[in-house]
Amino acid sequence: MGYARRGGELCAEGVPLERIATAVGTPVYVYSWRSVHEQYRRIEHALAGVDHRICYAVKANSNLAILARLAKLGAGFDIVSGGELERVLRAGGDPKRVVFSGVGKSTADIDFGIKCGIDAFNVESASELARLEARARLHGCTARVSVRVNPDVDANTHPYIATGLKESKFGVPPAEALELFSRASASPDLAVAGIDCHIGSQIADVEPFEAALTALLRLVDVLGGEGIGLDHIDIGGGFGVAYGNEPALDLDVLGEVIRRSLAERRLQLRIEPGRSLVADAGVLLTRVEYLKPAPAPGHRNFAVVDAAMNDLIRPALYQAWHAVEPVLANSGGTRQWDIVGPVCESGDFLALDRELALNEGDLLAVRTAGAYGFVQSSNYNTRPRAAEVLVDGEEFAVVRRRETISDVLRPETFG
Ligand code: LLP
Repeated sequence: MGYARRGGELCAEGVPLERIATAVGTPVYVYSWRSVHEQYRRIEHALAGVDHRICYAVKANSNLAILARLAKLGAGFDIVSGGELERVLRAGGDPKRVVFSGVGKSTADIDFGIKCGIDAFNVESASELARLEARARLHGCTARVSVRVNPDVDANTHPYIATGLKESKFGVPPAEALELFSRASASPDLAVAGIDCHIGSQIADVEPFEAALTALLRLVDVLGGEGIGLDHIDIGGGFGVAYGNEPALDLDVLGEVIRRSLAERRLQLRIEPGRSLVADAGVLLTRVEYLKPAPAPGHRNFAVVDAAMNDLIRPALYQAWHAVEPVLANSGGTRQWDIVGPVCESGDFLALDRELALNEGDLLAVRTAGAYGFVQSSNYNTRPRAAEVLVDGEEFAVVRRRETISDVLRPETFG
């Protein structure tokens, strides 16, 4: 897809990664547009024959350059804040293709969504429905509503990113969803548009999606019996990718299940993929600053690099595993290295126990970093955030310049 070795050197499409690091510095996130585009087409292909809309989950990677290109492909967007809505608008996205998820939509965010005429609010509680109704009335608009159902399905993923169990804060149980639908359909300020769920992220098996879809369709039938019709069913995102040798979710099998389940129905399918569109497309480039080989048996070998947990928090937060490889293959002897950053915490590592031949100054690529990488970065330890680069064919462009210390300090005062 987007990355391959040419003459021993790792390249993003036609561009050697070393060239980007030399021009832009490190740490830097690099994204291959071709990889995103190909993945978009793969998902569309898996859903061939199903009336569907891909609403890209902006939170996974919200860089404007990526959003703008996805908008050109006709993508819709799944947003979780007014800020993400602003990004979609600036990137030329169509608000009529936007769904708004999240348990804590503020009044300002709801107002912004109503004024833009977004396609649907994915409502997650009775209180939110009441607030949405009141704000729609105030603005003299009709807000389109989908109710997020919590189907109590085990997605078999990391507990921090499982969202479809009854213990989770997301959505409402099926019985309550029916109540919210009747309230919405009785309101002159609300229009019932759809039903949705999102059961978690990085899900490798089709079965949990099938269980969730079945649970939602059961509700669609009950609603139909009450004369409440829906125009779409949204099964969320969560399609797992391969970070290492584990299998990714089989999109074609999922597509087949969906085709079968929706065959006789006049419901548009919505999906909200984030990770599966952008994870493979990204690498985080970082340079080895210092090597601290084990001084004695029983000690560890540390490669201290210039990227840290503030740049990529996934290993520290979810025990996530990312492949790490030297951009130029090294010939020297290998050792088991812990790849660690400059931040003053022992949890600050990008990778542990990697068998690599390393020298100081080497450029490393942390793979599969296009999703939930830069977007979760911070200024911890007063570290300016990394630059972002987009590669398209033989060209690359800086699509977010590296922050400066002045950028980081600007909002502060002495009181
Ligand atoms: N829709 C909703 C309502 C969501 O909450 C999410 C992700 C998605 C769609 C997209 O899910 P995806 O297709 O990307 O799996 N920071 C974590 C992942 C958090 C996911 C949050 N919700 C990580 O780095 O693994």
